[in-house]
Amino acid sequence: MNAVTPALPAPIGLLAELTHRCPLRCPYCSNPLELDRRSAELDTATWERVLAEAAALGVLHVHLSGGEPTARQDIVAITAACARLGLYSNLITSGVGGALAKLDALSDAGLDHVQLSIQAAEASNAERIGGLRNAQPQKFAFAERVTALGLPLTLNAVIHRGNIGEVPAIIDLAVQLGAKRLEVAHTQYYGWAYVNRAALMPAKPEVDRSIRVVEEARERLKGRLVIDLVVPDYYAKYPKACAGGWGRRLMNVSPTGKVLPCHAAETIPGLEFWHVQDHSLAEIWARSPAFSAYRGTGWMKEPCRSCDRRETDWGGCRCQALALAGDAAATDPACSLSPLHARVQALAVAESALETAPDYRYRTIGGAPAAIPEGVAP
Ligand code: SF4
Ligand code: FES
Repeated sequence: MNAVTPALPAPIGLLAELTHRCPLRCPYCSNPLELDRRSAELDTATWERVLAEAAALGVLHVHLSGGEPTARQDIVAITAACARLGLYSNLITSGVGGALAKLDALSDAGLDHVQLSIQAAEASNAERIGGLRNAQPQKFAFAERVTALGLPLTLNAVIHRGNIGEVPAIIDLAVQLGAKRLEVAHTQYYGWAYVNRAALMPAKPEVDRSIRVVEEARERLKGRLVIDLVVPDYYAKYPKACAGGWGRRLMNVSPTGKVLPCHAAETIPGLEFWHVQDHSLAEIWARSPAFSAYRGTGWMKEPCRSCDRRETDWGGCRCQALALAGDAAATDPACSLSPLHARVQALAVAESALETAPDYRYRTIGGAPAAIPEGVAP
């Protein structure tokens, strides 16, 4: 490993959020509520420099993401830069809009992997969730071309109340489309998902059923399809090590060049983010106040501070702790050891029991919702 200092290992992954523009409007999008406009996006030369700095720092994987990364005119040049620098490139795409038209050129430029999102298996439901008509046939045509080009394909399905009954059909679809991997990822409640939480929260029995379906399919499809399962935080016993632990594995560069420890870090007030226009990635990784704020365990309060799992899950998600507990340095309330955990579970049960789910507040540029759901702090 290319260590920055003996005590601070290099990041493994760079999430390059090339743009917030996207033809889809998913109500669980992890992008911030205030989306960046095209006019403020970094130019090609700056992205190429950032990628070179990432390679020099020791980054191995670059996730070309957004928004919809193929909405950028220069997506092929950016992908080619990854290939030149020996960076493994993963295109995280919706497969709609201009994605298919650029796919052959992306493959020729050295793209390594494609991760295609699907909103549901059934077309009308998928298109209602994504807020775009005729999206499903575009996605299927895109997936077909990915496999025809010999590129490895992963499908990603974010699971929530509106599609949880379709988990078996989503698994069948992944096999049918020739995916080698499927991510069944229960919704993480930050960004747009947090404001849509009451519309998205599934009931616990349905969550348990979806987990059993995945476990059964893993056995049945061994050797054909790998299924990754992200379980829902609000019903969990322990939280996830969000982003692999704050400032430990991942750097996230926003469309305008702001460097974040995770994609929701901007929701935490008072953090100072550095920009790629002002500092190198190596400087930002080692010295940026935002990366230092919750790195390691020194910032932890009880019960995390004395917990055996503190270097396993790193106290969970800081952004979720802020949203739910009102304190980014609190134990993530998704943890069963948090004093707020019972309230979080009660909130999930109450929201999932609503007879009619509220309408989605679709993701839009310039249309951030005014009302943010309250947390569970007393
Ligand atoms: Fe993780 Fe903190 Fe919960 Fe322990 S108390 S399991 S470190 S979140
Ligand atoms: Fe920010 Fe989890 S999303 S730490």
